[in-house]
Amino acid sequence: MKKTLRYLRPYGGTVVAGLILKFIGAVAELFLPLLLEYIINDVATNAALSHDNKINMIIFLGIAMLGCSFAALFGNVFANRLTVKSSGNMTHDLRYDLFKKTCYLSSRQVDEFGVPSLISRLTSDSYYVNQMVARTLRLGVRAPILILGGTILAFWRDPVLACVLLGCVPLVGVAIFVITKKSVPIYFGVQKRQDDMVRKVQENVTGVRVIKALDKGEYETERFDALVKDLAAEEFKANKIMSLSHPVATLILNLGLVAIIAAGAALGSKSGTVLAFLQYFVIILNAMIALSKIFVVISRGSASAARIEKVLDTDVSETTESSQKRNTGYKIQFENVSFSYNGVKDNLHDIDFGIYAGQTLGIIGATGSGKSTIINLMMRFYDPDGGAVYVDDVNVKSYRVKELRKKFGVAFQNDFLMADTLKENIDYGRDLDDEMINKAIISARASEFIDALPDKLEHRLAQKANNLSGGQKQRILIARALAAHPEILILDDSSSALDYETDAALRRSLKKDYDDITKVIVAQRISAIKNADLILVMDDGEIIGRGKHDELMASCEEYAMIYATQMGGDNA
Ligand SMILES: Nc1ncnc2c1ncn2[C@@H]1O[C@H](COP(=O)(O)OP(=O)(O)OP(=O)(O)O)[C@@H](O)[C@H]1O
Ligand SMILES: [Mg+2]
Repeated sequence: MKKTLRYLRPYGGTVVAGLILKFIGAVAELFLPLLLEYIINDVATNAALSHDNKINMIIFLGIAMLGCSFAALFGNVFANRLTVKSSGNMTHDLRYDLFKKTCYLSSRQVDEFGVPSLISRLTSDSYYVNQMVARTLRLGVRAPILILGGTILAFWRDPVLACVLLGCVPLVGVAIFVITKKSVPIYFGVQKRQDDMVRKVQENVTGVRVIKALDKGEYETERFDALVKDLAAEEFKANKIMSLSHPVATLILNLGLVAIIAAGAALGSKSGTVLAFLQYFVIILNAMIALSKIFVVISRGSASAARIEKVLDTDVSETTESSQKRNTGYKIQFENVSFSYNGVKDNLHDIDFGIYAGQTLGIIGATGSGKSTIINLMMRFYDPDGGAVYVDDVNVKSYRVKELRKKFGVAFQNDFLMADTLKENIDYGRDLDDEMINKAIISARASEFIDALPDKLEHRLAQKANNLSGGQKQRILIARALAAHPEILILDDSSSALDYETDAALRRSLKKDYDDITKVIVAQRISAIKNADLILVMDDGEIIGRGKHDELMASCEEYAMIYATQMGGDNA
């Protein structure tokens, strides 16, 4: 919580100005009952004053009351504006840092937090922190001043009546405390169920096509309905308890008012004093109810702040190990690498291969056999548990991550495109010159469809590039990977949506225009990797066949089988 609150520090001036205005507003509000008491006790009922004098004084005091009312109103309004400003700025800074940190988390750290959880920390949790700060600044000073000031003034005016008043206040305090304490855990339950619902909505909206294709609309609706019902039931429970607080406080308030009037009558207090006490009583009770609400917001906000701080406190500093440069001459080399995502079962086992600069590595194998995992280790998204990965004869652990990644141009499996222009999607903030971009577009076989667009490269993509076909998306992704002319090109299942002819043409232009680049091509189709200098056949995290196409046809039964099943369409 401390770390989160530190984000308020740069806006300390605004916070203090807001609190001073709140203070002025609260004090002005406390003066109103005093003035009213004076008008009734010492002016209106004062036989010693002439009629005209009385009228003049009442008008004068009335204006003073108006002045106090306006001071209370404006003090509050301007203070609230400053509060919104400082809490808004603070949330902005917090979200900025949180987002930045999220971008620098390692893949393993992202796995640990979970993507939905990171999203909710950035959205709802930071919102709850904002609510906590804003509410506390708005009411956290005002309510205590009203309670304390009201009590002091009440004692000053009439200690006996003040005792009656103070007798009722703890009753309200206990009632509100009990009610709030019961409702806070239920509110946490509501928050969790809201997260579940948001996750379900996200899943369903993202997967709407699958749901339609499998005709699972009703099934999903029922599951969603169950979640919503659960959420509604929990909200009902929380609101049922919280809705008690107002009637209970009002009941005690009314009992208190009766007690004050009765005590006033018994003690022969003046009517103005009794009236002033009634007002103080209302002010104090309302302030207590406000404080109880802050309590709820603070409980919720501090839980969210803790979740946010957990991400902010994560160490994302690079660990680089110094090592000797070797002289094998390989561009990329895996040496007896084994790796597991969860530490239970090896996802890669004893992976050992090397390729030279300018060569092509093809990787083929069943779903889940570890193809993408090899790429993940090559780019150091994860570190191997055993063995080592070398790029340019240097252990990848010895590179600054930025330097290592600069060597790669990548089109990942199911990669994403942004809702921006085609040009920005290819350039991706790298300020590449037009010539490089155009060359990449031509080689990626994307020029044909881009030229047909009226606004060409300025064409804007819809969210998730939904206005492009699968094959068009892949061509843009390949162009992005090629555009900076990287040392190593990685295409992870990136040509699966291309027709055979386009796929073959892509390979021809890669050979012609980007021959110096070392290529790693993960594919399901043998045609995409047939001419590779080294092909790895993967199965369940192990290499079960290696070599060139012809060698594998002779030596690897599985490879020959894949080839046989794909023969019909393969003529590249
Ligand atoms: N982030 C992750 N956390 C835990 N397990 C993972 C993670 N990513 C992949 N795996 C597991 O590791 C194994 C290898 O996955 P990988 O993505 O490398 O397969 P692949 O060969 O690329 O498959 P595909 O052809 O479907 O892309 C799979 O069993 C998969 O479930
Ligand atoms: Mg994969």
